[in-house]
Amino acid sequence: LFVIDGRNKTQSIKTMPGVERYSIDNILIQCEIATTLGIHMIALFPKIEDDKRDTHGIEAHNENNLICRCVKEIKKHFPELIIICDVALDPYTSHGHDGIIEDGVILNDKTNDILVKQAMTLAAAGCDIIAPSDMMDGRIGKIRNALEKNDFSDIIILSYAAKYASAFYGPFRDAVGAKKLSGESGKATYQMDPRNKSEAIAEVSLDIEEGADILMVKPAMPYLDIVRQISDTFDVPCFAYQVSGEYSMLVAAIHNGWLSEEDAIFESIFGIKRAGASAIFTYFAPIIAKKLIKTHI
Ligand code: PBG
Repeated sequence: LFVIDGRNKTQSIKTMPGVERYSIDNILIQCEIATTLGIHMIALFPKIEDDKRDTHGIEAHNENNLICRCVKEIKKHFPELIIICDVALDPYTSHGHDGIIEDGVILNDKTNDILVKQAMTLAAAGCDIIAPSDMMDGRIGKIRNALEKNDFSDIIILSYAAKYASAFYGPFRDAVGAKKLSGESGKATYQMDPRNKSEAIAEVSLDIEEGADILMVKPAMPYLDIVRQISDTFDVPCFAYQVSGEYSMLVAAIHNGWLSEEDAIFESIFGIKRAGASAIFTYFAPIIAKKLIKTHI
């Protein structure tokens, strides 16, 4: 769910037909729908006003920021609904990168210090699962230590451990307003090379050692071999993220009448499950849940 400021607002996202941004009051309606459909876990992503973005993403650890207000409000009304929040600076930085930059270079360790602050802010707001999606090295250990020290030992860390520098995130960047990236290489210096398989195993091993409770492979469909390998190799739940580009690609074909909606969506999900995913992040969740309920009746 994409969150915006204001009241009674719903905005469409041009590159993701069917997915919308909602103000917090409308997010509550979506939570009600999710709960009714039997969806027990949601992920929240903020789109903040441009003037709140800066080079260091300071708004990320403002305890009154949009996402924290949203988490608190959801927990008031739906205490049982599990909330996942991203840890990464891209919704908050003026340049759109997940970390801070000096002289065109991402500063890994300085970024980690800010990510720890962001994670603590989210934990204090009531988020259940902290999901670092930034791909800095060493951040899982630092976040885990800080959680333990600050009495948040029950918070789960879902590490986007095998996250590729993918063209399929384009629509998401549109959704959170982080589309224009500075630097020509995009996020290739910290996300993984799509041609590289062995690094995925290395990244995952490190994250487990540092204290990750759940792993994420992302995107899903072009990386099913990685889902298979990780779920076979490690005794930790392996989630897969059917990302925005995978969603938009299917929706575009469905809207043109080139693919059959139900068959194509379900087949895409079966493939991810067959590859070994313990759970699937997908923008199709409401459609799938509705269909599952009908099937059970
Ligand atoms: C932010 C983040 C991204 C996604 C989830 N968290 C974008 C990126 O890394 O550029 C992508 C999700 C999607 O495409 O649906 N770090």
